[in-house]
Amino acid sequence: MDSSELDPQLAHTARVYDYWLGGHDNYEADRRAGERSEQVHPYVRVTARQNRSFMLRAAEFCAGQGIRQFLDIGTGIPTEPNLHQAVQKVDPTSRVVYVDNDPMVLAHARALMTSTPQGCTTYVHADVRNPDSILTAPELLETLDPTLPTALSLIAVMHFVEDEHSPYEIVEHLLAALAPGSYLLMTHATPDFGPEMAEVERVYHESGMPGQIRTRDQFARFFTGLEWVAPALTTPHKWRPAITPPNRMDNKVQFYAGVARKM
Ligand SMILES: C[S@@+](CC[C@H](N)C(=O)[O-])C[C@H]1O[C@@H](n2cnc3c(N)ncnc32)[C@H](O)[C@@H]1O
Repeated sequence: MDSSELDPQLAHTARVYDYWLGGHDNYEADRRAGERSEQVHPYVRVTARQNRSFMLRAAEFCAGQGIRQFLDIGTGIPTEPNLHQAVQKVDPTSRVVYVDNDPMVLAHARALMTSTPQGCTTYVHADVRNPDSILTAPELLETLDPTLPTALSLIAVMHFVEDEHSPYEIVEHLLAALAPGSYLLMTHATPDFGPEMAEVERVYHESGMPGQIRTRDQFARFFTGLEWVAPALTTPHKWRPAITPPNRMDNKVQFYAGVARKM
């Protein structure tokens, strides 16, 4: 099947995540996989919300540091506020390239094309496992100036890239194309806080979806050569929260998060 075709019979990561966030762009197969995951990890919805909230805070942080270009790979089904809405509040001239490989995201991409008149948003239907298809996409080349720093956002997407597809080389390749002063924003599922996330991984595999959760060291490896932004490697809810999260969240949000700068 062509990657731009929708198959409602197969669960897909974007639509399962949409289901957890309370969206309506999902099918029976997605809801079944989402519910099975929730049975083995009762806090998947909390995790999804905390992850989304980290994405917005981290993007806003980069905008606050003067970043005006954003490359968001694994965008997900539009869910307001979207990344461009967060960063264009800081500066309406911000330019955002969204990338995803889910046909449902493609079908709803118009909801992402709501840029301010001074800025720009565009969408590329591509697979992160083929980073050159992203870096050479005409939409990207027309939107981002390679001489200016860019925030590369890989939020909850690299755990869908299994080792056989060289995830570290992909991130290295994407970062190599970006100007000094660029940022990497990332979250990733981990088995480090309890057995639940490994169970979710199993449900994903049984439902026909990819998945490879990673340990702290394996997550840190994505940031090799970059300069951490405080509080460095942490969990999404602990990364510069607006209010201090209760400790009981710690073993529930089984994700790592981090932001780092390319020198
Ligand atoms: C869990 S959602 C995260 C959405 C958004 N980044 C967020 O954190 O709110 C993961 C997204 O990554 C996309 N995705 C998964 N594998 C991908 C791949 N190989 N290439 C591009 N996108 C991918 C899915 O379609 C989905 O939209």
